[in-house]
Amino acid sequence: MAKSLNYVCTVCGAAHGKWSGRCDDCGAWNTIVEETPLSVGPASKSLGARRGKGMVLTDLAAAEAPPPRSRSGLDELDRVLGGGLVPASAILVGGDPGIGKSTLLLQAAAAFAANGLRCIYVSGEEAAAQIRMRAQRLGLGDAPVRLAAETALRDILTTLEAEKPDLAIIDSIQTMWADNVDSAPGSVSQVRAAAHELTAFAKRQGTSVILVGHVTKEGQIAGPRVVEHMVDTVLYFEGERGHQFRILRAVKNRFGPADEIGVFEMTGAGLAEVANPSALFLTDSQSPQPGSAVFAGIEGSRPVLCEMQALVAPTPHSQPRRSAVGWDGGRLAMILAVLEARCAVPFAGLDVYLNVAGGLRVREPAADLAVACALLSAREDVALPPQSVVFGEISLSGGLRPASQTELRLKEAAKLGFTTAIAPLPGRAELAGEAGAAIVLRPFPDLATLVGD
Ligand code: TYD
Ligand code: MG
Repeated sequence: MAKSLNYVCTVCGAAHGKWSGRCDDCGAWNTIVEETPLSVGPASKSLGARRGKGMVLTDLAAAEAPPPRSRSGLDELDRVLGGGLVPASAILVGGDPGIGKSTLLLQAAAAFAANGLRCIYVSGEEAAAQIRMRAQRLGLGDAPVRLAAETALRDILTTLEAEKPDLAIIDSIQTMWADNVDSAPGSVSQVRAAAHELTAFAKRQGTSVILVGHVTKEGQIAGPRVVEHMVDTVLYFEGERGHQFRILRAVKNRFGPADEIGVFEMTGAGLAEVANPSALFLTDSQSPQPGSAVFAGIEGSRPVLCEMQALVAPTPHSQPRRSAVGWDGGRLAMILAVLEARCAVPFAGLDVYLNVAGGLRVREPAADLAVACALLSAREDVALPPQSVVFGEISLSGGLRPASQTELRLKEAAKLGFTTAIAPLPGRAELAGEAGAAIVLRPFPDLATLVGD
């Protein structure tokens, strides 16, 4: 019988009945490729041989106390993992090529090894000598980390079975090759099969496995999203190419809070931790500039202040440009529409550029008001009051919603010398603490009063 073929998206892994230029699931263009479906499932002889047994939750608690987490000593990493590495967990670390994943994980392996874990770093991309050169450059030349340069999954699993390490790092999952799958390395089926085998190994042997996945823009190579559902924890390593700051962000974590971030700085000798990032993304200009608003944000459990910069200029084109770096383009369009419809501030015929300084990517809706303030300030060419921070969510009606954790935002802003906050006022009870005293809160019920002010 001829093998049936199906079509999968290399970015999100969605299966399609026929080829098309655009994936309906994730919206990516030119990412659908033809693949032989993976035949999975237990062999018939094993059916019923080992029936799953149920047990009562309380029995489980008494029977086996959860093994302790291991800490690397790199606090930024440990916190993103939810307080350390959970034994037998499978972790995916995704990120753009060249962002620093291999550097981070080699440093992590050395740090875990220094704390007594047996670590293996398997590279499918570099030769052992190259990894050693990198380790020397990072000052980790004598770290007790075992290295292997290998891409055949069967060989890797045999090695891991024999050596039984506490942590195995697979760099990268796209280079792994499973010989029971009939397609090229990097294809969706190969990447899924390799990830499946490795996570199953992690659970079976109690080894923690970290899989590295390059984010792919398009083409034949499957991206890390196709294995996100198989692992316990998904971390993305992000940052702008021209900037030295890198952010490790937990987007899924079975063993800790999602949305936690760790901040690193890429230096000549590898990644350095940035313990107190709140002032990192502020430019230190003394006088406030038109088009700039400081947003008091929260990333995970920590407050981070950053500068929103806007430029509004008459356009020479018939279709004005809207461009956002570090902020969602759709959300920018929404804020512009609210300003036009609810506050009668037109942006037609004007190019609009928005940039989050320092290469940070802001996802919080609480940044809406800071974006709006930066846009208005740029359009009117008037600077915001000096030493002020802005936060609050904008609704389509033009109303403002208080941000969560107002107290924490105000406290951090006050600590960094800000004296004014432009924000919608939450319930009185929430502001009972001392932060309200150190900072003058200028509350606005909606955007229109803010514009009128
Ligand atoms: P790398 O970890 O190889 O990226 P990835 O595995 O995500 O593809 O990092 C490559 C970049 O990091 C490269 O552009 C050089 C830079 N780098 C430094 O700036 N300092 C260093 O000490 C190292 C090892 C790399
Ligand atoms: Mg790499």
